[in-house]
This record gives sequence, structure tokens and C-alpha cells, in this order.
Amino acid sequence: LIAFLAPKPLLGQRVVVTAGPTFEAIDPVRGITNHSSGKMGFAIARAAREAGAEVTLVAGPVHLPTPRGVQRIDVQSARDMHAAAVDEALSADIFIATAAVADWRPAQEADQKIKKDGSGEVPQLAFVENPDILADIAHSARAQSGALYCVGFAAESENLEANAQAKRVRKGVPLLVANIGPATFGKDDNALLLVDDEGVTELPHASKRVLAQQLVAEIARRVGGEMA
Ligand code: CTP
Ligand code: CA
Repeated sequence: LIAFLAPKPLLGQRVVVTAGPTFEAIDPVRGITNHSSGKMGFAIARAAREAGAEVTLVAGPVHLPTPRGVQRIDVQSARDMHAAAVDEALSADIFIATAAVADWRPAQEADQKIKKDGSGEVPQLAFVENPDILADIAHSARAQSGALYCVGFAAESENLEANAQAKRVRKGVPLLVANIGPATFGKDDNALLLVDDEGVTELPHASKRVLAQQLVAEIARRVGGEMA
């Protein structure tokens, strides 16, 4: 009932959210990944849905239930996430990249489990860079024309504001959101710094659920829908 009565500033908007980590296979039984519970991205997908949007969540491997009314596409690798997100973004109005994408993947994925050969020798892994999902989508014609509004996240360990502004420009996004404070992996609360071309807005410490609702309201305001 509360969701029914709530304002719907994103009614008619299609929102795509990436969330969680990616998993980059080394062989059939091993891989490398990033720390990410996916909680913030899932909370944003839920809040966007409750704000009236049609929401697609492109999720890496996480242990979270799909928010009600949200379409979910499960992926493993950065390349899978890239393909799904680029495809979905073609018909989206808002793209929100919260995923902790692995920046590199093993250059080769062995098709059989790599075995110890008894000599004590260790495998040498070479890496290649993964595609940048956010940068590619933000530099697409749709985004550049203003038809698609892109939001990035940043995990920074120092110089939060300066790094966030630099990342915003480098990624080509109008809005970049930085996590404030110590690592928030798996936690249920957080604080956010919103960086856009007008400066900085702080969303003080709160649950990820509340922060997601506030962030969705900030995004809705920026794309022209008022949160009543
Ligand atoms: N991102 C992405 N695809 C990648 C890497 C990052 O879509 N291959 C997105 C993340 O989802 C996030 C934003 O880009 O929204 C910033 O990610 P971050 O890891 O902070 O930035 P990087 O550009 O990867 O730079 P670095 O990790 O070196 O700070
Ligand atoms: Ca990165």
C-alpha cells in the first residue's frame, strides 16, 4: 500500500543497473573476483522500481533475492556483463553502474583444471584488461545525445572528492557516486558523496535502502522527474 501511494517520479522510464562482482575464470574450478555483496545495486534497483521505473538488473554472482517487479539477468564475467548491459542500455533512459567489475581477467582460460605436477612449480598467470562497461555505454551515441543518463560509482581509498571528480570526467558521466568512509562490503549501511558538474552533495550515513531511495530521488530530479 505504501509503495502504491508513493510518488512515481520514474514512471515510464527504463532503468538498467549493474550490480555485484564479476568472476573471471582461470580454469573450470578457479577464478578471480572482487569484493562486492551487490546490496547497494539491488537496493537501487528496488528503489527505482518503487519509483515507477521498468528496471533491469544485470547481476554478477551474488546471494540476494531479486527485488519484486525487477527483471534480472545473471552474468559471471565482465565480458558477459558488458554484453548484457550494452544490449539493455540500447532501450534504457537511465544506466546506473554499481558493479565491482574485475579490471583484468586471465589472458587464457584453461579448459581443464590446472593440476599440480609435483615439481613445486607454480602457474604463471598473464592478465588482459576487461572492457569498461560504464565508459563504453557513457560514450555511446544515445548517452552523448542526452537520451540515456549514466551514473557511475567509485570505490576510492583516498582523496575521495578529487578522485571522484576525475573519474566522473574520465568516464564521461554526468553523475558519479562515491562511497564515503571505510570499505562497506557486505554491510547494510553506507554514506555517499554525489559528484556532478555543479559540485558535491552528501547523503549522510544511513541504511543502503534509504540511501538508494535518496539517490533515486536525486537521479529523478536530474532527469527532470520531481520526487513529490
Ligand atoms: N566499471 C565498469 N566496467 C569496468 C570497470 C568499472 O562498468 N570494467 C564501472 C563501475 O561499475 C563503476 C565505475 O565504472 O560504476 C568506476 O569503477 P572503478 O573501479 O571505481 O573505476 P575504474 O575506472 O575501474 O578505475 P580504478 O579501479 O583503477 O580506480
Ligand atoms: Ca576498477
